Amino acid sequence: MIHTLLVAGTRPNFIKIGPLYHAFAKHDGLETTLVHTGQHYDAAMSDVFFDQLELPEPDIFLSSGSGTHATQTARVMMELEPVIIEQRPDVVVVVGDVNSTFAAALTAKKLHVPVAHVEAGLRSFDRRMPEEINRVATDAISDFLFTTEAAAEVHLKNEGKSEDIIFFCGNVMIDSLRRFQDKARAVRQHDVYDLRAKSYVLLTAHRPEMVDHPEKLEQFVRGVAQISNDHPLVFPIHPRTLSRIKDSGLWDLLDGNQNVHLVEPLGYLEFLSLMMDAGLVLTDSGGVQEETTVLGVPCATIRDNTERPCTIDVGTNELIPLETDAIKDAAERALSGKWKKGSLPELWDGHAAERIAAILADELSVPAS
Ligand code: UD1
Ligand code: UDP
Repeated sequence: MIHTLLVAGTRPNFIKIGPLYHAFAKHDGLETTLVHTGQHYDAAMSDVFFDQLELPEPDIFLSSGSGTHATQTARVMMELEPVIIEQRPDVVVVVGDVNSTFAAALTAKKLHVPVAHVEAGLRSFDRRMPEEINRVATDAISDFLFTTEAAAEVHLKNEGKSEDIIFFCGNVMIDSLRRFQDKARAVRQHDVYDLRAKSYVLLTAHRPEMVDHPEKLEQFVRGVAQISNDHPLVFPIHPRTLSRIKDSGLWDLLDGNQNVHLVEPLGYLEFLSLMMDAGLVLTDSGGVQEETTVLGVPCATIRDNTERPCTIDVGTNELIPLETDAIKDAAERALSGKWKKGSLPELWDGHAAERIAAILADELSVPAS
C-alpha cells in the first residue's frame, strides 16, 4: 500500500484536495493521511469546505495561522517535520501556490520524501507575487509535476524539468465543480438577495497587490460604486480585504449602498451558485478564473497578468486594468451580452484526480522481488 500525505491549508487548497482525497480513497493501492496546516482557520474559510466537499476531519491539524510570510512558512515546517518523520509517507502531495504548499514541499524534500505538486508549472512571471515564489520554489524540488494546461508544461521544460516527471492530468478544482454543480444549482443563492439570474455582478478581491495598496483599493471600490449606480452586486469579502477596506475609510461607499450586498465569505455551494447565475464575475482570484471558464460565465480579472492563460485563450476570462472606468466598462459589456463565449480547456472534465491517483500508484509501486 502506498501511503500518501495530503496537505492543505487555505480555502482554494481544500477545494483542490477534495477530489484527490476521494480518488485516493477509491484506489486499492493508496492510503491517505490528511493534514490541515491551519493557515486558514475561520469556519467560513475552512470548516464549511470540509463539510460541503464531504471530506472527513483532517487526521492532523497544525497551527500555522496568520503571520508574516516567514512566520507562517516556518510554523508549517516546524510542525510538519515531526509528522512526516513519524508517519513515514511514500509521497507528500501538495496543491496550488500558497505558503502552506511550499512549506510542506520543502519539509518533505529535506526528509528525502518524494513530493507531488498538483497544479505545477503555472507562471505569472511576476515575482512580486508571493504565489509566484511558492510556485517556482515548489516545482524546483518536486518529483511529480501534475499540470492543468499546456503552458505549464512549456514553463517546466524551460526550467529544465525532465518530461518524465511532468503529467498533464487536467484540473482538480474543476473536478470539485463538476461533482457539486447540480447541488449548487439547486441552492439558488441569488434568491437570498432577491436578484434575477444574469442581472448582477459577483465580486471577489484579496490579492495583496490590489487590497494592500490604498490607492489601488480606492480605484476598485470606486469602480464598484460606479457599477452599483446601474446594477446590483454581491461581494463576499475575504478577511484580508475586509480589514483593509475598513482601515481605508472607503467602507461607507460600500456599506451604505443598497445595490451592494456585502456578505461574509460564502460556502462553496453558495458561492458556486452565485457564480453560475452571475452576469459578470469581477475578481483577482486564481481559481475563480478557471471556474467561470468552465461555467461559461463572463469573468473580468483585475490584474496585469494571469498564470492561467488558457482561461483567456480558450475561456471567458479577460484581464482588465485596475481603473474605475475599465471596471465599469467590463460590467456594461458583460451585462448587455457583449462578452466572448469561450469553450472548455482540454481535460477539464472532472476526472483529473483519478488520473493523478493512477499515476502515483503506478510510479510509486515497488515491483515484487
Ligand atoms: C492566501 C494565499 C493566497 C490565496 C488565498 C486564498 C499565501 C501567501 N497567500 O492569502 O495565495 O489566494 O490564501 O484565499 O499563502 N484571515 C482571517 N481568517 C482566516 C484566514 C485569514 O481572518 O481564516 C486574515 C488574517 O488577518 C490574515 C489575513 O486574512 O493575516 C491573510 O491571510 P493569509 O493566509 O496570510 O493570506 P491570504 O490573503 O488569505
Ligand atoms: N470561494 C468560495 N467562497 C467565497 C469565495 C470563493 O467558496 O466566498 C471559492 C471559489 O469558488 C474558488 C476558491 O474559493 O473555488 C478560490 O479561492 P480564493 O479566491 O480565495 O483563492 P485563489 O484561487 O485566488 O488562490
